[in-house]
Amino acid sequence: MTDLWQIKIIGTKSQLEEIEAGLETYIIAPLSLSLFEDTLPAWRLEIVVDQEPDNGFISGLGAGVAVEIIKLPVKNWVLESLRFLTPVLAGRFYIHGSHDQPKITDDAISICIPAGLAFGTGHHETTKGCLLEFDQILGEGAKFQQILDLGTGAGILAIAAAKAQNAPVLATDIDGEAIDVAKANIVENQVGTQVDLLVADGVNHPALQDTQFDLIFANILAGPLIEMAASLVPLLAKNGQLILAGLLHEQAQAVGTAYADQGLKMVRSRELGDWTILRYQA
Ligand SMILES: C[S@@+](CC[C@H](N)C(=O)[O-])C[C@H]1O[C@@H](n2cnc3c(N)ncnc32)[C@H](O)[C@@H]1O
Repeated sequence: MTDLWQIKIIGTKSQLEEIEAGLETYIIAPLSLSLFEDTLPAWRLEIVVDQEPDNGFISGLGAGVAVEIIKLPVKNWVLESLRFLTPVLAGRFYIHGSHDQPKITDDAISICIPAGLAFGTGHHETTKGCLLEFDQILGEGAKFQQILDLGTGAGILAIAAAKAQNAPVLATDIDGEAIDVAKANIVENQVGTQVDLLVADGVNHPALQDTQFDLIFANILAGPLIEMAASLVPLLAKNGQLILAGLLHEQAQAVGTAYADQGLKMVRSRELGDWTILRYQA
């Protein structure tokens, strides 16, 4: 059973959004992350992690926010929280836990995501936004030959791509534990022969240097997306589509500029909750 800590940070909405956006600087992999209205004007960011936050983390948050760290009693929190999660419908995609039945209709694509520790149960607006955008692309009749899911987390987008398209899918993540979870989910969803997995930081892997993809999902964070624009765009085939997510509305312009500078055309900008999802075409 993993030890878990809950970090509660109280501050203004903009302070907390800034912390949330830069979280990977401090924490390797937040297991869950929720922003709530507290006693207004204060907001509360609640983060669950599996490494004890150190003094460097607390001082890195800066002045002006209140921080409380609670060690959670040892029990399987992921399974606990999943009991209360309801299935998610995003266009034709229906994400459900192993305790729910798949949706059996002609046009539904069910994806089973059992409890796991990597990001992605389909409840986060960035994942849901990517699925909605993918659903829209499929509705336009697009067919793909090679698909990349960069920063796959629990593997939802890779599984959705493999189930919707008869094409090979490469799913990558910087986090080896996420890749282990994604692997189990890919097997659970019976797309193991279609999806390859690898641990890679951005595009820094030989397997990513020689292939072009006509659909790329990259649901990461604004900072890394801007940094990798110049190395990611060359992986996109002519007329290929790129879906970017993990950016707050106020970060969308900077991300948009970085990808427009690489010669991509923006097709759509979709907003879901606090997040913007961008679609580009090469
Ligand atoms: C917001 S989660 C998205 C997960 C999944 N794609 C989804 O939509 O549910 C971002 C994922 O990107 C991974 N990641 C962060 N930085 C990365 C990098 N430089 N290269 C590859 N993966 C990265 C994280 O480990 C995490 O699993």
